Amino acid sequence: MRDGLPVTANQRLVFLNHAPDFDAAGIRGVAQQCNAAAVKALDAAGWTVQPDIPDAEFDGAVVRIARSKAWTQHMIAQAAAAAPLVVVDGQKTDGIDTHFKLIKARCGVLGTITKAHGRIFWFQSCDLSDWMAGPLSPAPGFQTHVGLFSAEKIDPGSALLADRLPEQLGPRVADLGAGWGFLSKHILAKSGVQHLDCVEIDHRAAACCGANLNDPRATVHWADATTWSGRYDDIVMNPPFHVGRAAASDLGKAFIAAAARCLTKKGNLWLVANRHLPYESDLKEKFRSVQELPGDNRFKVLRACL
Ligand SMILES: C[S@@+](CC[C@H](N)C(=O)[O-])C[C@H]1O[C@@H](n2cnc3c(N)ncnc32)[C@H](O)[C@@H]1O
Repeated sequence: MRDGLPVTANQRLVFLNHAPDFDAAGIRGVAQQCNAAAVKALDAAGWTVQPDIPDAEFDGAVVRIARSKAWTQHMIAQAAAAAPLVVVDGQKTDGIDTHFKLIKARCGVLGTITKAHGRIFWFQSCDLSDWMAGPLSPAPGFQTHVGLFSAEKIDPGSALLADRLPEQLGPRVADLGAGWGFLSKHILAKSGVQHLDCVEIDHRAAACCGANLNDPRATVHWADATTWSGRYDDIVMNPPFHVGRAAASDLGKAFIAAAARCLTKKGNLWLVANRHLPYESDLKEKFRSVQELPGDNRFKVLRACL
């Protein structure tokens, strides 16, 4: 742990939203992490890691903030309930200074260190239970949670793709990056679908997806779609277009490569993307035919056949 921080090696610590690159300098504890790829990396680095905060007593909790303010506040409130001392770490671009000011006003701050574009601060826990976020519902029958993609409102790109799907799909279908299950629900409403694999990297989204679908034909996998293997007649996806703050067409391209790998001969990929994302050349390289279905000025819907 960086010099000056109030936690030591012999304390019971929990690290929320822990990242493999966090400079913990030998101090260990239980790590909480929802992202399946980060879990793999933490596991490989010898951390004990799980998607939820363990129900145990801790001397301290270290929170790495997320981009979502509401999700970060939820984590800070969880940390304050789990330990008497909370350390908060993050980048200015992710809003660490806002959290610093809010906590200073609510609980007081015991210390802070700023470095380059980041800040760490710590405080003695106070009651922040009003920051705990309850379930959200972007549409009747769907439950989501703060910080998830389209948590409060159906994504217009996903809605467009759902409208463009054919009447029949399958029998084996995958939804890569399934989120809380909006597209999956539409897939399951098509005739011919006997099995649907919903692959989602975020544990919270995957949990919502399972609860929202509640269908014996659907299996939710908390996993990285870019390394997924399976055999499908159709793959449907609204691939992620950000990594942190940066636009990332590479991630979308890795989704396309996974789809090309996992589709059966004559299988179809159904994909929606922001108009500016350059997926066509990858699609043309990997698929026999690529067709643009009616879209709108923001989104394009593409069908690619192997
Ligand atoms: C644009 S959202 C689409 C969500 C959902 N399919 C919908 O249409 O509402 C992309 C989803 O992919 C997930 N995701 C990002 N990277 C992933 C990866 N490597 N493997 C699996 N899922 C991933 C995100 O957590 C997010 O839920």
